[in-house]
Amino acid sequence: MASSTFTKTAPHVSAELQEELPKTPIQVKGTIPSWLSGTFVRNGPVTVTVDGKKNDHWFDGLAMLHAFTFDQEQVTYTNRFLRTQAYQTVFEEGSLHYLGFAVDPCKSLFKRLFTWFIPQSKLKIANANINVAKLDEQLVALYEVHLPVKFDPETLETLGVLDYQDELPKEQCWTSAHPHYDAKRKETINYLIEFGRNSFYTFYRIADGSNKREPITKIPVEEPSYMHSFAVTQNYLILTTFPLVVRPILLALQWKPFIKNFKWEPERGTEFIVIDRKSGKIIQRAKTKPFFAFHHINAFEEGQTIHLDIVAYPDAEVITSDFFYQNVVDKPNFPIRTAIERFSLQLPAGTIRYETLFEQTAELPRVHPALDGLPYRYAYLAGEDTLAPHVDFNSLYKVDTKTKTAKQWKADECHPGEPIFIASPNAVEEDDGIVITIVLEPKKKKSFLLMLDAKEWREIARAEVPLAIPLGLHGQFFNL
Ligand SMILES: [Fe+2]
Repeated sequence: MASSTFTKTAPHVSAELQEELPKTPIQVKGTIPSWLSGTFVRNGPVTVTVDGKKNDHWFDGLAMLHAFTFDQEQVTYTNRFLRTQAYQTVFEEGSLHYLGFAVDPCKSLFKRLFTWFIPQSKLKIANANINVAKLDEQLVALYEVHLPVKFDPETLETLGVLDYQDELPKEQCWTSAHPHYDAKRKETINYLIEFGRNSFYTFYRIADGSNKREPITKIPVEEPSYMHSFAVTQNYLILTTFPLVVRPILLALQWKPFIKNFKWEPERGTEFIVIDRKSGKIIQRAKTKPFFAFHHINAFEEGQTIHLDIVAYPDAEVITSDFFYQNVVDKPNFPIRTAIERFSLQLPAGTIRYETLFEQTAELPRVHPALDGLPYRYAYLAGEDTLAPHVDFNSLYKVDTKTKTAKQWKADECHPGEPIFIASPNAVEEDDGIVITIVLEPKKKKSFLLMLDAKEWREIARAEVPLAIPLGLHGQFFNL
């Protein structure tokens, strides 16, 4: 009698970078400043493929951490995936059906939007692939949902979620992966967007050494905006609400990927909401032209004027365009344009002037970390080379916001990431220090750590990594 056997083939799973290196010394060409001691950790998504299908959106790649440790002019490199629910889904179940920014609607992020209590045991480790920070004396990886994910600074091993001990929501809300740290006040500030029948923008602070979020203010909003960052000054918090908005009910009723529920409504304009840091009161709401941005570069007060420097896009197409639905390692060409714009908001009149400080397309801006919220002069960004039909991100820029000029570092067939400024210990001027970043050479399938002298904007050292680090997002330098 004939019989048939059904054999289930194991899914074929791969990643654009799969290798994980334990702490490995890497060779330095050039000279690393002898004063440099600490660890630079960078986060970012790694595109994965299951049976020939990639995760759709670049932002939904699996979180991988990269650490460069500097000690007595020597450098070591370590990399490791975060062991998240998404990692398990991909590598243990051979599936791409994990929660994300733009993934499969039936696994919508807000499937349980209107449930009110998620037991402790169900707190999941999010695919925290955007940024890193120090919170409650621990290093954490950050995303825009769920709780921060703790990791070991030496081995990059995942240590579980940082579970806040407070009453603010932990799920069914959106947050920013760009909290602001205020060294003077010894606190971290961030916000939540609480989605529900009644929705709110809720700002909170976390005191150093604490894991409690203390509310600063709760602002009702009917149709929340998609925002990726916000600004602080000495006296104010500023929320820049772009006209990319969602009706919260749609998040629960429409089985669309999270970001696909948002609509671009330029007629609304972009509104700055200015909040007094001490009282939590809104002191100004002021509208300007419609634009979109991921990143505020910096903001500061000058008398009664608040200046906000922002990497502005003319619309929100960047976030929904096909570009981000591809593997950007092979095609790191932005089909979009940005400009650094300065919005100057006059209090109490609420009038806004704006001007362009830098016209070429650039992203991932950083400034001297001690000048967050204060008058500053220099911004550091990765950006395009020339005004080509498609933007080739092969350059690093030091933009002088005072003179509106820029210095450029560039290398062909190279794609630098976010440039991070580290001040030298005896710094006198704002740009006394170095800038470090990871540069990808896709054709050579290699990457290197690049170090520039920040003042002169010239290379002083590089250290080749024995693998190709995919284009990533944000990192921080920690004096551990
Ligand atoms: Fe960002």
